[in-house]
Amino acid sequence: MTRQITILPGDGIGPEVTKEARRLLEDVAQAVGETWVLEEALIGGAAYDQTGHPLPPETVAKCKASDAILLGAVGGPKWDHLPGDVRPEAGLLGIRKQLGVFANLRPIRTWPGLLLASPLKAELLNGVDMVIVRELTGGLYFGEPKQRLNGGDAVVDTLYYTRHEIERVVRQAFDIAKSRRKKLTSVDKANVLESSRMWREIVQSIAPEYPDVTVEHLLVDTAAMQLIQRPNQFDVVVTENMFGDILSDEAAVLTGSIGMLPSASLGADRPGLYEPVHGSAPDIAGTGVANPLASFLSVAMLLRHSLGLEDVAQHVEAAVLHVIESGHRTRDLAGQGGESVGTEQMSALVRSELQRRLNG
Ligand code: NAD
Ligand code: IPM
Ligand code: MN
Repeated sequence: MTRQITILPGDGIGPEVTKEARRLLEDVAQAVGETWVLEEALIGGAAYDQTGHPLPPETVAKCKASDAILLGAVGGPKWDHLPGDVRPEAGLLGIRKQLGVFANLRPIRTWPGLLLASPLKAELLNGVDMVIVRELTGGLYFGEPKQRLNGGDAVVDTLYYTRHEIERVVRQAFDIAKSRRKKLTSVDKANVLESSRMWREIVQSIAPEYPDVTVEHLLVDTAAMQLIQRPNQFDVVVTENMFGDILSDEAAVLTGSIGMLPSASLGADRPGLYEPVHGSAPDIAGTGVANPLASFLSVAMLLRHSLGLEDVAQHVEAAVLHVIESGHRTRDLAGQGGESVGTEQMSALVRSELQRRLNG
């Protein structure tokens, strides 16, 4: 079978981790005996520098014609002075919107070998295994108006949702909960925001369709606290775009590093977009120390959700687990002064373990 996968390296450590993820994809294609067309396209600051726009139309066309898209990261200080509509981040928001990938799945689990990499006590972290389902194409990120007013003396961002937008992501979250431990936590700010009150009503109205799923509502401030206090109570968390953005970086601390968090952004019958939760990490870009595992675990999600290769996805995850349990760490996980390996070496370790598994 021929598969078309578009890689969007982006900026900072984006190209460093996608370079290794591409090697991983090439290894997998060879092992399963398929022809995969892996093509790169411009996004973010790299696209702005070459074309004057962070999301060139050719990139959108290429992504829409693909089976799946793997993104690195975008952004960096070089482009922070640009107006909002041409910032690198606008390219990322644009591709999410254009692909209609409204459900962003961010699985968060703790790794037995990494409990000490987290600043939290190990006993809090055992057995943490949750998925944050972040609404990705609406809410505060996209609502209009979004602008300076009164000659710059006032400003507005708009939190706008249609019933349809809330319903589809909530249903997706219920479906995921049904296939897991059957608990759904909906996070909102219903004591203050009208949008949250409607969100809560919609969750309540869909709940009877999933009688075996237990539903709980948490206010976002409490949720932020409980993520640290009792993280293993969570199974599936569903929430508005910006709340999900913030809570997922907080949850990254449970795993030891944001360099371990993958994500899948899915829509209805369209190519999925796969990307690490982390950004372009300008502070370490170019030094060869970036952790490629969030990108590798995003490839696992791509294999699972877009290519239907569940068994290979599990092998990739098992290879990552094996390398971590064998004591190998990139610098973000090793702590100050600990022994660490670089991006390429970590990649080679995981790929060789994967080869061993795939080739028997
Ligand atoms: P960041 O995630 O880039 O970095 C936060 C910290 O985590 C830094 O200390 C960084 O070195 C570290 N880190 C992140 N990924 C790592 C990895 N794989 N291995 C080792 N260490 C890692 O967040 P930031 O510094 O707030 O943002 C930097 C830029 O990235 C900004 O321009 C922001 O807009 C952009 N950003 C992009 C995305 C994306 O493209 N998906 C996501 C978040 C932030
Ligand atoms: C993320 C990032 C992006 C977001 C930024 C870079 C636009 O923080 O993917 O979590 O806020 O969605
Ligand atoms: Mn974020």
